Amino acid sequence: MQYQIAPLFCRPWTLNGISPRLIESHYEHHYGQAINRLNAITAELESLDPETTPPDVINRLKRDQFTELNSTLLHELYFASLGGDGRAPPETIANAIARDFGSVDRWRHEFIALATALSGRSGWVLLTYLPRDGRLINQTASDHGQNIAGGIPILAIDMYEHAYQLEFGANAAAYIATFMRNIEWNATQARYEDAVAVKPPRRLEQKQFVDLPSITPEEVKAMLDSGAGVQIIDTRPRHYSTRAQDMMEGAVWRDPERVNDWIGELSKTEPVVTFCVYGFHIGCETAATLRKAGFDARYMPGGHYAWKAIKGPVKLFE
Ligand SMILES: [Fe+2]
Repeated sequence: MQYQIAPLFCRPWTLNGISPRLIESHYEHHYGQAINRLNAITAELESLDPETTPPDVINRLKRDQFTELNSTLLHELYFASLGGDGRAPPETIANAIARDFGSVDRWRHEFIALATALSGRSGWVLLTYLPRDGRLINQTASDHGQNIAGGIPILAIDMYEHAYQLEFGANAAAYIATFMRNIEWNATQARYEDAVAVKPPRRLEQKQFVDLPSITPEEVKAMLDSGAGVQIIDTRPRHYSTRAQDMMEGAVWRDPERVNDWIGELSKTEPVVTFCVYGFHIGCETAATLRKAGFDARYMPGGHYAWKAIKGPVKLFE
């Protein structure tokens, strides 16, 4: 694969306080070098036989390829982040930022703080949309890496000294302020609109239980912490529970094979939560049985191990 150079997105002569000379040098020498190195490394990788090449050689080349590819992508985003007047973001992106950061001002202060922390060092500060969470987050990406997995960066400031030294010397604060005054919010909003169209990663789906109400381990924990009345039933199978050492604090174990023996102990006025080992079947089936009998029962996805993974309190298995 040959990576193609992208034309400059911003118009250098329109920038306020950043000269065309700085952008030209940055584009030609740093972005251009990243593309050239990326192509050279990629060609080298393609010419090697992965079956006979020492793994260390492949590993080193892949690491370098990752660095240059990310440098390429982030430089393209950086040049596309400039060219506006940096003032008020348009409505859609302003509302999204306010939703996820509290206010545009709070976002701005956090973004500037992250950039300031990179003064005299190197790296990027990115505003990134994460489809998994449907939210925006600021992040630092050192060494052209460390990007949030699955995240889509929509705004970038380059904090490598080559991005500003020519014009601002060591005065990173002046460079950051100038960058903020030149943000192209309309293009950033357009990237945000594209990013939100990306579907989140697929979640575990159990088609047979799709209509069965569930309650997350975090919600169960909040219920217990608040002192709300809830009946929690550990329905791990008998063969499994004989070797179990711990169980959820606040839960009782009941044999899922013998629901009829213990269903009479339950109260219909308090909600019921059931769970099994991993949350696949037995907790769900028990919740379905209890619902049919008129109980307000829900299953806890992830089961016993999700409870332990959120550091929910456990006790010795009785
Ligand atoms: Fe750069």
